[in-house]
Amino acid sequence: MVFFTKGGFLGAMRMSHVIFAVMWMGLLWFFNFIQVPAYAEMEAGARNNAFDKLTWRALWWFRWAAMATWVSGLLILAIAGGGDEGYGSLFWKTPAGGMLAVAIVFSTIMAANVWMIIWPNQQIVIANARAVSAGGEANPEAPKAARRAAMASRQNLIFSLTVILGMVGTSHFFGRFDQMGGGSRAIFYIIAIAIAVALELNAVGKFGTEAGKPNTKMYDTHTMALYYALGLMVFFWLFFEIVAGKAPGL
Ligand code: HEM
Repeated sequence: MVFFTKGGFLGAMRMSHVIFAVMWMGLLWFFNFIQVPAYAEMEAGARNNAFDKLTWRALWWFRWAAMATWVSGLLILAIAGGGDEGYGSLFWKTPAGGMLAVAIVFSTIMAANVWMIIWPNQQIVIANARAVSAGGEANPEAPKAARRAAMASRQNLIFSLTVILGMVGTSHFFGRFDQMGGGSRAIFYIIAIAIAVALELNAVGKFGTEAGKPNTKMYDTHTMALYYALGLMVFFWLFFEIVAGKAPGL
């Protein structure tokens, strides 16, 4: 049976990866585009109830979808292996390999944001909502926790479109056979890593968390975060045309 061959297992892992990724990205965009603006309009009692009943459940699916996406992605790499048919050293010198590497780095940061920033801080926010609903004292740390979670979540939204470009583009629209020159490759990886580090340091508050500052404007509204997400994706799309001289195309 084909499923019990390497190719069959790789196919099953790829399909699982896409399903988990859709679940994760769907919930990420739900939180950013729907839940946050809706909660801002709700009165406190209804919002606290929704944190307890809705956000709590959604966060379970969200964080385990993130974990499953990450693990299934690693399994694709492991099963396909490093040979000529898989992800050998030549592959990482192609535009497809470069874009997949960027997508993996960005999405690994995203998974870390989910488990190490969003989830712990949301637990504080939800515990506070439950305590207040039960007639208890509000936790003064809750607004700060909400801000930390919101910045990491909007940063994940900003990374998300570039990750999808890299993941899908690897097999579908970035050259998989032409090598990038050594110079272009170095520029590409240096720029990509610098962008990842700068954005993540900003998201964890290293340059300040106060809203409305030049470094936090991108997190002030979901529309702003979406513009940055589109900008980042277009930047990487154009990179190959401008620096590597290999335009992505069908
Ligand atoms: C936000 C997180 C992620 C999303 C939304 C995502 C989404 C996707 C999608 C839609 C594909 C396309 C499948 C296809 O066209 O055949 C894909 C492929 C792939 N992903 Fe991910 N993925 C994510 C994270 C990861 C991670 C963390 C890894 C590895 C650690 C990974 C490794 C891969 C690999 C190796 C492929 C196959 C690329 C190829 O050769 O075509 N992904 N991913």
